[in-house]
Amino acid sequence: MKIARSPGAITSLTALWRRRGESIGFVPTMGALHKAHLSLVRRARARHDRVVVSIFVNPLQFGPKEDLKKYPRPFLKDAALCREEKVDGLYHPTVSVMVPKNACTVVEVQGLDRRYCGTSRPGHFRGVATIVAKLLGQVRPDALYLGEKDYQQLVILDRMTRDLDLGVKVVGCPIIREADGLALSSRNAFLSTTQRAHAPGLIASLRKGALEAKRRGATPASVLASVRRSMKKIPGSKIDYIALADAATLEPARTLQGRLRLLAALFFRNTRLIDNIPILL
Ligand code: PAF
Repeated sequence: MKIARSPGAITSLTALWRRRGESIGFVPTMGALHKAHLSLVRRARARHDRVVVSIFVNPLQFGPKEDLKKYPRPFLKDAALCREEKVDGLYHPTVSVMVPKNACTVVEVQGLDRRYCGTSRPGHFRGVATIVAKLLGQVRPDALYLGEKDYQQLVILDRMTRDLDLGVKVVGCPIIREADGLALSSRNAFLSTTQRAHAPGLIASLRKGALEAKRRGATPASVLASVRRSMKKIPGSKIDYIALADAATLEPARTLQGRLRLLAALFFRNTRLIDNIPILL
């Protein structure tokens, strides 16, 4: 496995592979790799000749009160995991290269970035889109692998690649869960034992909403109300948002028709958890 620290190093490595006709799958991460990241790597590994993983804790996507300093950075452990998964290129750029002081350009996927997670994290998706656009320019992969757990991020980045004709296919991959249903996330490590015990209430509430959606006479409002009733009972938590949206556009659903996604976020004190499920009608 080659480790690249500069844009020049990763671009020339992937250019060499492309010249040989090899296809490249790319998994962008902020490190602290867990099973969900590794599942993205395996999906990319199964479909491409070469797999690149990036590890970059992106300061642009953290709000002023968020946990940038506390964010774990176990680089050596992450690199060992990548090696085990037969990653070909590990890209680990520096902050000064990714966020140069003189940069004037930002990428904003307007509208989509103002709803749901964007409301409680202003500027977050602009930070994500700007950095992922840069990473794509540096790595130049054929396909970008993203988890469905950050569903709004997946829709936003898919939209960005199409709006800007970036020529990369976006592949959404299923959420990986603990045995009790909790979606894997680096944030789970911040939960106390009691909070961790109550955290599966989030997916349980979404599943109740999905059942309600199948009931005769159900409406988007009744689905949201059923999730809200259930989430309100999760001890020590505060609801951030609950949304039922078109799975492709993220527009709030007006009827229970088509491909929909039920999304929610909650706080356990300062730790914010998100989750979502498809609504199959
Ligand atoms: O999902 C993440 O870990 C990040 O938002 C990403 C896509 C690596 C951009 O920094």
